[in-house]
Amino acid sequence: MDVILIAAVTVDGFIARHSNEVITWSEDLSLFKKQTMGYPVIMGSNTRNTLTVELSGRKVIVVHREDDPEKVLSTLENDRCFVIGGGRTFTRFAPFLTRLYLTIHPLVFGKGIPLFPELDSELRLRFVKKIAVNEAAGIYQFQYKVL
Ligand SMILES: NC(=O)c1ccc[n+]([C@@H]2O[C@H](COP(=O)([O-])OP(=O)(O)OC[C@H]3O[C@@H](n4cnc5c(N)ncnc54)[C@H](OP(=O)(O)O)[C@@H]3O)[C@@H](O)[C@H]2O)c1
Repeated sequence: MDVILIAAVTVDGFIARHSNEVITWSEDLSLFKKQTMGYPVIMGSNTRNTLTVELSGRKVIVVHREDDPEKVLSTLENDRCFVIGGGRTFTRFAPFLTRLYLTIHPLVFGKGIPLFPELDSELRLRFVKKIAVNEAAGIYQFQYKVL
């Protein structure tokens, strides 16, 4: 199964200013919807609390600290699932990620929630392709395979 991290990221690698930020700056919501529709989406409890829309058409799995990421994934029978945040959840699922879909936004926060807070080991990536999100603003989704 492909386990795909999908996120909107600032130029300096942050996904939010703080743990309960409602993300209003992301420009890739329609692409997010198109790509995740029909597939399970996994998120942490902080992210669930920030969502303002229902992720209809997708099986939503909210994980808590006592959940074992490997066990959560083993219950799924789809050919892919998406890990949709936040940072702590990205870090916990990092050993199982097969792809990253990152949309880089022209913003610098300087501090906040990094894409992978306190990650123990590096990920090696191979660029696969990029998709235009807002060409005029230079916003693209970069897709990587985890090697
Ligand atoms: N830019 C983007 O694409 C994007 C995407 C998604 C989210 N976000 C933003 O990311 C932020 C939330 O990220 P986050 O990293 O704070 O939270 P999160 O990953 O959404 O949720 C926190 C997770 O960590 C667990 N946890 C808490 N304390 C822990 C501990 N001491 N040890 C182990 N696990 C622990 C929580 O479990 P419990 O439930 O048991 O506490 C929960 O599963 C929000 O601002 C959200 O808007 C941005």
